Amino acid sequence: VTNRTFTMIKPDAVANGHIGAILDDIIKGGFKIVAMKYIQLSPEKAGEFYAVHKERGFYGELVSFMSSGPIVAAILEKDNAIEDFRKLIGATNPADAAEGTIRNKYAKSIDANAVHGSDSDENAQIEGSFYFTAFERF
Ligand code: CMP
Repeated sequence: VTNRTFTMIKPDAVANGHIGAILDDIIKGGFKIVAMKYIQLSPEKAGEFYAVHKERGFYGELVSFMSSGPIVAAILEKDNAIEDFRKLIGATNPADAAEGTIRNKYAKSIDANAVHGSDSDENAQIEGSFYFTAFERF
């Protein structure tokens, strides 16, 4: 499914009141919402989601941050979704994120970087399926 990506609005952006503004940027960016939920990950679930980063130095921080408060998880649809969404959110480190991107506007640090965006079609598929069943996609 080359026209879909997966995103999370992370605990920092939720806590700072940016859910509405970020969803507005996403929709104005031409993305259709296929699935969406507001939930808090347990540390176990966050660890499972980020298992691919298990050996990285930032894994512990990442898991504890991502389970620290509620998030918004969503599957998004648009032509060229992976690449276009990564352009819309900007670089992983907000210090490097281009002017006007979501991370440039709403993120504070590389950990508290406001949003997640899948890096490949394969990961978008895996990540979306972590949260949503077929009956929760429209
Ligand atoms: P995300 O793409 O959601 O998934 C992995 C997260 O780890 C990434 O966003 C960052 O928030 C966080 N992170 C912390 N340190 C690093 C790093 N050095 N390189 C990449 N990601 C990092």
